[in-house]
Amino acid sequence: MSESTVTTIGCIGAGYVGGPTCAVIALKCPDIRVHVVDMNAARVAQWNSDKLPVFEPGLDDIVKECRGRNLFFSTDVDAAIEEADLLFISVNTPTKTYGHGKGRAADLKYVESVARNIAKVARGNKIVVEKSTVPVKSAQSIADILKANRTSQNKFQVLSNPEFLAEGTAVRDLLCPDRILIGGEDSADGWRAIQTLCSIYRRWIPAERIITMNTWSSELSKLVANAFLAQRISAINAVSAVCEATGADVSEVARAVGQDGRIGPHFLQASVGFGGSCFQKDILNLVYICESLNLPEVAEFWLNVVSINDYQKQRFAKRIVNCLFNTVAGKRIAILGFAFKKNTGDTRESAAIYVSAHLLEEGARLTVYDPKVDPDQVIRDLRHVTGQPEAVRDQVEVCADPYEAARGAHALVICTEWDVFQTLDYRRIFAAMPKPAYVFDGRKILNHDELTKIGFEVETIGKRVRHVSSSHPAAITNGIGCGEPEPEAAAAAEADH
Ligand code: UDX
Ligand code: ADP
Repeated sequence: MSESTVTTIGCIGAGYVGGPTCAVIALKCPDIRVHVVDMNAARVAQWNSDKLPVFEPGLDDIVKECRGRNLFFSTDVDAAIEEADLLFISVNTPTKTYGHGKGRAADLKYVESVARNIAKVARGNKIVVEKSTVPVKSAQSIADILKANRTSQNKFQVLSNPEFLAEGTAVRDLLCPDRILIGGEDSADGWRAIQTLCSIYRRWIPAERIITMNTWSSELSKLVANAFLAQRISAINAVSAVCEATGADVSEVARAVGQDGRIGPHFLQASVGFGGSCFQKDILNLVYICESLNLPEVAEFWLNVVSINDYQKQRFAKRIVNCLFNTVAGKRIAILGFAFKKNTGDTRESAAIYVSAHLLEEGARLTVYDPKVDPDQVIRDLRHVTGQPEAVRDQVEVCADPYEAARGAHALVICTEWDVFQTLDYRRIFAAMPKPAYVFDGRKILNHDELTKIGFEVETIGKRVRHVSSSHPAAITNGIGCGEPEPEAAAAAEADH
């Protein structure tokens, strides 16, 4: 018994996961035809153009090399299903916004619709691979739909093969992953399907990094991996609040803690809060599963990871208002960075959206600059989150240049850790701002000593920055909000200066 040969791969869903994953498979398997399909014609057109819908370092070159050779993008979903030996499902699985499980459970309507379509169209033997992040036992649901529609002409095996790529480093993660997880049915056919998928990855990934297991373990591992990563960020962000209140520096604490080999240094960068399409969604999904399994204590444990993240975003936004003399009404504030992290144009769940919404609510006028986010996306996100299109129209300006965004602003708010923000001409920026000129560094990426020397009032996460001037409220920050110092904190701050 051995694996079967794959000559054609189909992928349904040409998003952040499906597109880059299939581009790398096409690169590494030039003898396999890879057909990526999506019902969104505009998205497909972008994949076939010079401006891909997804910005990922290194992706353009791979797509250019493979597109038209063995990599194809189209809207012909049925054709992809018919011709493929192996089909990836990589459609979106957002958090449900309606009905039972609203706000928690993953919405599987897209996955289910794809499964029904495969059942209708497919003939012959197919391996169906669940790539989208889904709740435990979703592969079983897909298999049930396929089996209920099985005829003598078709036979299906369903595998779980979660994707661990991170945006901004997707190509590197796909070329050199820490591990590949493949879960399948515990049967001879299941084993053969697993081996078939392994044989594709073995072309460029060492065998010891390819882990096979049962389907449910594979599905759960993906949720747990994201929950663990997010939990580390919430843990260090919780510590950042303690640092601001005590005068400790969260970066120093993270370095000391991360040097312990058992803990490790990764994902300990305190920030304005994690964003992205996965962390919150996957944790809420895990919470929902725990609640459904009558495990309320476990559900609450994971829910706290999201609560601390909300608290962190709120804390940072409130601090901006407090420092700006408790009012930002009518003040111009520059939001530098709108993507949820650097090297991506993706804004899903970005902390910048939340911080901006809070400032808009307080009456601020925002100038937003991000090197990769489409201006229309900024407006769409803010309209969606505030529910006030007129306010967004009147109060928000998206700028093409950081200097333009900063001109006349009372404060710069760094929401995304773009490298370019480290090399801006801050003297020039300072000269064009009303005084006191503030910097709120939500990513801890700037040289705070340099900025204070220039004359900026600097506020950052998890650290008290020495202020040049002690005459205004920022000089006596108590770490919670610099506008309303407690007497003890004021005394401590004075001693600090
Ligand atoms: C994540 C997982 O890393 C990836 O394995 C999974 O497949 C998808 O979800 P992604 O959301 O693309 O990837 O980005 P990631 O690098 O994990 O960052 C998520 C958020 O956490 C970002 O907002 C980032 O800025 C923030 N973050 C990350 C921190 O605030 N501090 C850190 O130390 C690390
Ligand atoms: P991810 O980040 O998981 O890749 P995206 O939202 O970026 O998610 O991409 C998912 C893609 O799946 C979208 O482009 C969407 O149009 C596509 N999609 C959803 N349902 C279907 C379907 N039934 N048939 C084809 N494409 C679909």
